Order: sequence, then C-alpha cells, then structure tokens
Amino acid sequence: MNISPQIIEDIKARNDIEHVISSYITLKRAGSNLNGLCPFHSEKTPSFTVFPSTQSFYCFGCGAGGDAITFVMRMENLDYVSAVRTLAERSGVTIPENTIISNGKKEVTRQRVLEMNKEAAKYFRNALFDPKYGSEAMDYLVNKRKLSTTVIKHFGIGFAPNSFGALHDHLKRLGYTDDEMVTGFLCGRGKNNSAYDYFRNRIMFPIIDVSGNVIAFGGRVMDNSEPKYLNTSDTPAFKKSKNLFALNYAKNHCESTMILCEGYMDVISLHAAGFENAVATLGTAITSEQARIFSRYTKKVVISYDSDQAGQRAADKAFNLLQEVGVDVKILKIDGAKDPDEYIKKFGSDKFKAIIEGSKTRFEFETDKVLSKYNINNVDEKIKASHELCKVIATFASDIERELYCRKMATIFDIPLQSIQKDVASILRRKVKEDKSKQQSELYRITSGLGDRVNPESASNIRANKIEEAILGMMLLKQEHMKICVERLNSDNFITPFSKKVFESISTVYKEYGKFDIGYIQDEFSVEQTSRITKMLAVRERLTKNDEETLQNLISSLIEEGQRKEDLDSFDDILSAIKNKKKTEKG
Ligand code: GTP
Ligand code: MN
Repeated sequence: MNISPQIIEDIKARNDIEHVISSYITLKRAGSNLNGLCPFHSEKTPSFTVFPSTQSFYCFGCGAGGDAITFVMRMENLDYVSAVRTLAERSGVTIPENTIISNGKKEVTRQRVLEMNKEAAKYFRNALFDPKYGSEAMDYLVNKRKLSTTVIKHFGIGFAPNSFGALHDHLKRLGYTDDEMVTGFLCGRGKNNSAYDYFRNRIMFPIIDVSGNVIAFGGRVMDNSEPKYLNTSDTPAFKKSKNLFALNYAKNHCESTMILCEGYMDVISLHAAGFENAVATLGTAITSEQARIFSRYTKKVVISYDSDQAGQRAADKAFNLLQEVGVDVKILKIDGAKDPDEYIKKFGSDKFKAIIEGSKTRFEFETDKVLSKYNINNVDEKIKASHELCKVIATFASDIERELYCRKMATIFDIPLQSIQKDVASILRRKVKEDKSKQQSELYRITSGLGDRVNPESASNIRANKIEEAILGMMLLKQEHMKICVERLNSDNFITPFSKKVFESISTVYKEYGKFDIGYIQDEFSVEQTSRITKMLAVRERLTKNDEETLQNLISSLIEEGQRKEDLDSFDDILSAIKNKKKTEKG
C-alpha cells in the first residue's frame, strides 16, 4: 500500500462516486443505482452503472470497473498516486508528503514531468525571441508562414537550438535528472548512456491540456528534411491518443461546432483567422478516445482534412468514429488548396467560412464518392454503385434517416423506391444476424473463460472460479461477509491464481486494519485487474440473494471443490506412478 488507509478513506468520503463521475458524464437514476453512456467505449444504450451503496462503477458492456480513484485514473490517464492526489486536491484534503511510501525505485511522476515541460517551453520561447538563437526560426514563422508575433505568443511557439546539450544543461541547473528528462521525452540516451537533447533546430509547438499544463511538444524542421515533425511519445504526463492540439483554446468556442484538422499549422492559421474552434490530433489518425472528447465538448464536428487522397481516406475513418459517439459530423471539401492553412492564405477567411457552412453531410459525401467512382449510365456499374450506397444507408441508426435517404437515392439513381428499401432492409437483416452471432461467440468466450487474460486458469476451473468470484464479490459487498470469509477460508482454498491473489490481498488488509476498501489495494493490481474485481462485486449487486446463508453455502462448496480437485490430482499421481512403474519394468 502506498498511501495510508486513513487518507484513502478520508478522500473517498469527500469524493462521492456519483458526484465525481457526474462531473464527466451524464448519469440517470435507475432504482438505487445510476446509468449512463460508458466513457470508456462507444455505445448508444447505457451499460455503464454506478453503485452508490458500494461506491463503485462497472460497465456491463466493456468490463471497465472500479471506484472513484480508478475512474479518475482511467479518465485522466493517471497513475494511482496521481489520481489520489487529484481527488485530494479537488476536495481540499492535504496528503502529507511523507505518507506516500514509494516502493523501491524512484518513479518519475506526472507532476515532475509537467513542471519540467513548463520550464522547457519557457526555454524554447526565450530562444525563439533571442536573435542569437532564433533569428532564422523567427524569419521562417513570420515571413514564410505569415504568423504575427501575437499568434506566435498566443500559442507559445518556441525554438529548440541546434545543440545536443543546451536544454539538458538548462534543466540540469534547475534540478531535473537525466532520468526525468528521458522519461519526459525531452532527451534521448546516447551510447555511453548520457542524455542528449531530443529536439534540435526545430520550431517547437507546445501541446497544452485543458487545465493549462504543457503536456507534450511537436517540433517541426524549417526546411524539407525528414522527419518533418518529431512529437513527444507517451510519458507519465501524456498519451497522444487521448489529447487534442489547441483544445485548451477551442474548449471556449465550441458549443455548436468544432473543426477537426490534420496539422498543427492548420489549426494555428484557423485560430489566427478567427476560427478558434479548430483542433488537431497529435500526429496520428483520430482514435475512439479522441472521438469521445469531441462528444463531451460539442454537438457538431466539421472534418477539415487535407485534400489529397491520404487526407480523404483519413476523413472516412474520422467520420465513422465521430458518428459512433453521436456527434453530428460534416465534411469539408477543399478545392484549389492542399489544406486549410493554404486555403485561407489563398482565398481568405470569408471564403473559408462559406465552405464550412456548405460542408457536406455523411450521406452527401458518400453519394459524391460513389458517383465519382462509377459511371451510372452503364447498367453494370449502376448496380454496383447502388448496392454500395444501400450499404451506406443501412449504417444509419434511425428509421427516419434511412427512409429519407432511400427516397433521395431513388431520385438520384432513378430506381423505384421499393427496390431500394428492399435492398437496404436485407442488408440490415444480414447485419443483425452477424451482430447476434458475434455477440453469441463473445458470450461463449466470456462464460467459458477462454481468452481470459486476467485469470487464464478460469477456463479449466469453470465451476470453482464461479464460486470463487461469488465469494469475493460478497466479501466486497459487506464487511460482515468479510469477517465470515476470513474466519472460514484461507488463500489455499482458492483454486485459480488470480482469485487466490485477490483473497490474499483483501484478507491481509482486513486482518491488519479491521476494515476494507477496494481503494486500499488498487496499487497492487492493474486497471484491468481492478475491473475484474469490481465485476465480481457488480454481479452480486445485481443479484438479490446476498444473505449469510448463501455465503456459508458458497464457502462450503469452495472447500468441497478443493477437496475434489485434490482427489483428482492424487488420482493423476497414482496413474502416472503406475505408468512410470510399467516403463521401468519394460526398460
Ligand atoms: P506544414 O507542412 O507546416 O503545413 O505542417 P502541418 O502541421 O500542416 O503538417 P502536415 O499536414 O504535413 O501533417 C499533419 C500532422 O501530421 C502534423 O501536424 C504532425 O502532427 C503530423 N506529422 C507530419 N509529419 C510528421 C512526421 O514526419 N512525423 C510525425 N511523427 N508526425 C508527423
Ligand atoms: Mn500544412
């Protein structure tokens, strides 16, 4: 345990789970529990459940689960100690520094990386504005990229001098270690293990989160050399799949619409031209996590990718991911320029505003794509084209949308409406069937324990594992159950290794402190394992038979199961002894 139970208890008492989770997602009351759309996977019907009585959450869709601390860990991408600190800060609890026992190796914390990044950003900024280092970079930004000093300052753009040690030496003087610089991705490690500056002779774009922390950097060359950009990889303070460039500014201008671009420079140009709702992903294609960020901030996203083929393909993927999270998606077609940055420079912001307003819906976009691919004056091509568009129509979730698009398509293709409706319906039926069989094999996989990464042995001990999980779930449900289990069972009664470990962990804490909370043991388990433990609890929460008699019966069954297994094992021993004997007799 890294933090004392007293502190965990205090923090959890002041951070009611309902309150913590409601600050991120909308929850609706359902009996004594609350439901909502899971923030950890895409879904349209809520399977994410919050249980106030045990201060836990569990998603019956994706299996994510835990307590308020786990929730913040997952949501903010924090380690256990940082999540505890975040909740402490929010509720005004101070954690005395010496109560955190670090286990062995000194960890590089998120807090240290953030402080170091802030210093680095300041250093890069000063270098850009210092003619001794930054004159070429400044010339590039102002004359070649047409950025004003106001915009340069607004985005905190800087310059990394052409040196292997300038930043390193500066940070060292401020007390940062090589380990911290390497883990924070500001330095690489050379052959002789020495740290050297990772970003050299590059324009530096700080990536700033919505709380104003500098979480990462993107660094661009000033000529045509490769690679054009270097970006910070994942660090304790940063996960590129979970952040967006310029969200810190866009979050205040995005209620109705956001613009999604590919490049940092596109975003900067757009903001400078008055489109302060523009953001970009961080050097990768959009992820489902980023799509969910959009759904938290806005109702509508206009995808504004580069006009080349790669850009259009990427737009396709973005379209699907954004639609899945329920935002209204439109797509921009840029003609006469390679990207939004160039478009604005060539045609001005009024023209850009006009094309944003004329951006296409997904149906229009897909229709254009199909029509440009096939010549529908040719019968064979017309058949292919119409089938492709029917497939697109079938992906819309609402009956009304499908009906209206069928009608539109009937006019465009000059095909009777009924035939189109029939085709769409049969595609839909096939999809429902496919989904069902997918669900069934998934269900089989889960119930049979096949592919269980958390507890691989559950597959060969299905019955025993069910009993184990029921007992552990009941222990977590009520402290009275805990007492009974600790008295009647020891860890050797548990058959699968994961259950054994969970029981050991719970009972050790309970014996020492006379009470238990899942928050006490989380640092011993991964987020995935914590989810599994919470699942055991969530399953019991859903069942009504959680009385003492049920528990006593379960305990007896587990003990019996253990004996049965012992008998079988000794039977195996006898068998192999006989076999060996035969072998030696023969030999
Ligand atoms: P300009 O060419 O200056 O207009 O930059 P841009 O920001 O518009 O970049 P571009 O459209 O070429 O690329 C889009 C985004 O992809 C960039 O902002 C980077 O995040 C990322 N990217 C581009 N080139 C590289 C590269 O060489 N390496 C990595 N890791 N990311 C890159
Ligand atoms: Mn560009």
